[in-house]
Amino acid sequence: MMIPSQDAVIVGGGLTGSRAALAIAQRYPHLRLALISKVHPIRSHSVAAQGGMAAALGHLDATDHWLDHAFDTVKGSDYLADQNAVAILTQQAPQTVHELEKLGVLFSRDEEGRIAQRPFGGHSHPRACYAADKTGHAILHELVANLLVQPNVTLLAEWYVLRLIYEDGEVKGVVAYCLETGTVAAIPSKAVLLATGGYGRVFGTTSNDYASTGDGLSLVAREGLPLQDMEFVQFHPTGLYPAGVLISEAVRGEGAYLLNDRGERFMAHYAASRDRMELAPRDITSRNIALEVAAGRGIGGGSYVHLDVRHLGREQILQKIPFAREEGLRLAGVDCMEAPLPVRPTAHYSMGGIPTDPDCRVLDRHSQPVPGLYAAGECACLSVHGANRLGANSLLECAVFGQRAGETMGREVGDRPIPSVAIPAYQEQATTAIAHLLQQSGTLRSAVLHREVQEITTAACGIFREEAGLRAGGQQLAIAQERFNQIFVDDKGSCFNTELVRVWQLQSVLTVARAIAASALWRQESRGAHCRTDYPQRNDRDFLQHTLVFFEDFASGADPQTTGRTVDLSLQAVDRPRFTPQERKY
Ligand code: FUM
Repeated sequence: MMIPSQDAVIVGGGLTGSRAALAIAQRYPHLRLALISKVHPIRSHSVAAQGGMAAALGHLDATDHWLDHAFDTVKGSDYLADQNAVAILTQQAPQTVHELEKLGVLFSRDEEGRIAQRPFGGHSHPRACYAADKTGHAILHELVANLLVQPNVTLLAEWYVLRLIYEDGEVKGVVAYCLETGTVAAIPSKAVLLATGGYGRVFGTTSNDYASTGDGLSLVAREGLPLQDMEFVQFHPTGLYPAGVLISEAVRGEGAYLLNDRGERFMAHYAASRDRMELAPRDITSRNIALEVAAGRGIGGGSYVHLDVRHLGREQILQKIPFAREEGLRLAGVDCMEAPLPVRPTAHYSMGGIPTDPDCRVLDRHSQPVPGLYAAGECACLSVHGANRLGANSLLECAVFGQRAGETMGREVGDRPIPSVAIPAYQEQATTAIAHLLQQSGTLRSAVLHREVQEITTAACGIFREEAGLRAGGQQLAIAQERFNQIFVDDKGSCFNTELVRVWQLQSVLTVARAIAASALWRQESRGAHCRTDYPQRNDRDFLQHTLVFFEDFASGADPQTTGRTVDLSLQAVDRPRFTPQERKY
């Protein structure tokens, strides 16, 4: 299939990708832009974000200031965040919220009509702006509505990007697969932005949708480029049991209690959370729940605890957290107005990702920008979240850095010619690889291998980790990679062959899982969400550094589907001009 060459291609239609596309479309209307998304943009996972977007607006609480927000974010990150990037995030936050409001986003209001703000874990002031507990839905719908009327944007929805066109150290476009027709297009572009979101589906229990498979990270790793800080996986404390879907932190922000089997508010039992109780950051809260369960104080001795909102009363529940109630009713058969909700930690967010500078340019292993390649949002690692992200900082990151990525690309593509790309050769290579995969004569179903990978990753790289488990997990994942060529694809068709897409997604999941295990093995300390039972203390002397992980065989140009792929690591300094590391308590 022929798609014309573009000034910019954006991969991913969630909040980051849509915000970037809108920035380009509005500021640079002469540029030709394609937004490629494997699902329709409004089905992207951003739509499921619930609790809010943090910003020190200062109108409800005049003592709040972006520097407080910056400090909370750095402390929450266990001092691993890059502080200049955090300053951009937090300083830009109020303007970003107001710009979204002007685009049409309906934020909830207080009695005087001002944008309402609620408390969130690890934030010293109530600063999460929200639309009930459907904030992502409110923002994404408005962004996409604005985007669809832009004349210079081509939307390629339900297209899957198979690879980057990366030649001579530059990115020159993408090769993508159209689900509707089963055809392939090589699309030359002056610039490519990866805004592909997270990878929760690497784990068995996750709040993420089925499409969160780390595809952008895998596209980058496949070119021998590094991934940063992959050991830092956020487990959200309150996944609904057993489904794993998110019960928003907004519920605790509104005053919910976490209770163990004895009916105790157990957060009081732990030194790190005694003051903030249920509003301690997520790493600490999730660990406390896991410890209660391990001590036999889960409900009925089982693997979950209770989240109790009954004392908030009917009106507050229906007005502020209606979606949480709906989820409890629909997915657990529990009406939270009458009984507590069963919850346990669920894989939620990736602090690590594709290393970028603060203008969203992707960096190679020598920290040099890769011409033509940009990344932003959850798939990127700036790093504004370090070892642990604070709730409500993700929607903010998507909006601030989505816009920034769009503006950087718009500025920079002017200096680049449309790259010359051997389109037929790329298309033929991809078509042959697809035919080969469809003809593969193994007996292994991708769903079976995916489940095995999830089990390995959950056992080795869950909330608590230790050396023997990480080594074993890494080896099992390498074996799983070798079994990839035994996969059998039932559907040989070319119209919406979602089974084929699931095989490609599994390749992404495996790449991400191996990167997590290797990075977690290297980090012999406990910091933020990375908790090593064999190294329980934070160790700033040796480990106040970012990890960069890359796959040697990819780097040497070997076929990624048939090689074992050795994983290697290097390190990078943390940028911390403002706040000095201290002990972290709440
Ligand atoms: O709990 C939540 O509503 C999630 C928010 C976030 O991840 O920022």
